[in-house]
Amino acid sequence: MMSKSHDAVQDSVVDSVIIVTGGARGIGASLATHLAGRGAKVVVADVLAEDGSALAATLNDGGTDAFFHRTDVVDPASMQDLAAAAVDRYGRIDALVNNAAIYESLGAKKHFADISVDDWDRVMAVNAKGVWLATAAVYPAMKAQGYGRVVNIASATVHAGVPFFAHYTASKGAVIAVTRSIAKEVGRDGITVNAVAPGLVDNESSAALNDTSYFPTLERQRAIPRAMTPADLTGAITFLCSPASGFITGQTMVVDGGLVFS
Ligand SMILES: NC(=O)c1ccc[n+]([C@@H]2O[C@H](COP(=O)([O-])OP(=O)(O)OC[C@H]3O[C@@H](n4cnc5c(N)ncnc54)[C@H](O)[C@@H]3O)[C@@H](O)[C@H]2O)c1
Repeated sequence: MMSKSHDAVQDSVVDSVIIVTGGARGIGASLATHLAGRGAKVVVADVLAEDGSALAATLNDGGTDAFFHRTDVVDPASMQDLAAAAVDRYGRIDALVNNAAIYESLGAKKHFADISVDDWDRVMAVNAKGVWLATAAVYPAMKAQGYGRVVNIASATVHAGVPFFAHYTASKGAVIAVTRSIAKEVGRDGITVNAVAPGLVDNESSAALNDTSYFPTLERQRAIPRAMTPADLTGAITFLCSPASGFITGQTMVVDGGLVFS
């Protein structure tokens, strides 16, 4: 199968087929829009059918070949369907961005001893198990191509030890760990697996979860002292989705304006 190692496409995602889980809203939607603007064919995968379909329609109106596929990342059959739909339509899957997570829907932060067992299990299922299942679903296509990029969205809360969020930080720690393990397994297949750990993004979801009066204090602690937007993530993720990042694998890139160092 054709690999994507030609110099002319090294730093480009033009014509790359890229699946973005959790792509219907928030950071995922911003990323899907950015990738489409860079010439990628984008598969928006999410449980939110209305938002996902609307985004795909907007991308199509803008001239991008994109589609929405309703996907639940905790359901193995749903993940298999997603991979099959992408291959049916485009014949290959170049990159998978595992962005879907329970974040906004965490509700209020809680003392670790007050987190319910159901909430712990739900967060671990979507945020950690979902990454494993999605990667397993695209692996046969990537292996057959001899090329693939997997980018897992972790969180700098793992590095910072953010309190009152124990199930979430545990799930994102698992994302970083599984990134390393799977990277070691699939490197010989031409597939890289990396993670991006965002700092606090000043978006609706963060505002729903946090006391926003703290945001300016946090911003001042950054080496680059300003609010972080979803657009601050797109460069790093696009690079890790491209052929240019081909000798980088198992790594976690913190993108937070220089607050924590890994
Ligand atoms: N916003 C931040 O400050 C921040 C910081 C660090 C990391 N992150 C991470 O970035 C990613 C995106 O964050 P966001 O702010 O857009 O969060 P969000 O909660 O707004 O969006 C999450 C998306 O995942 C989807 N999703 C949830 N469960 C799903 C499932 N079972 N199957 C498929 N899709 C599902 C949701 O429908 C939604 O579209 C998440 O992985 C989050 O943990 C966010």
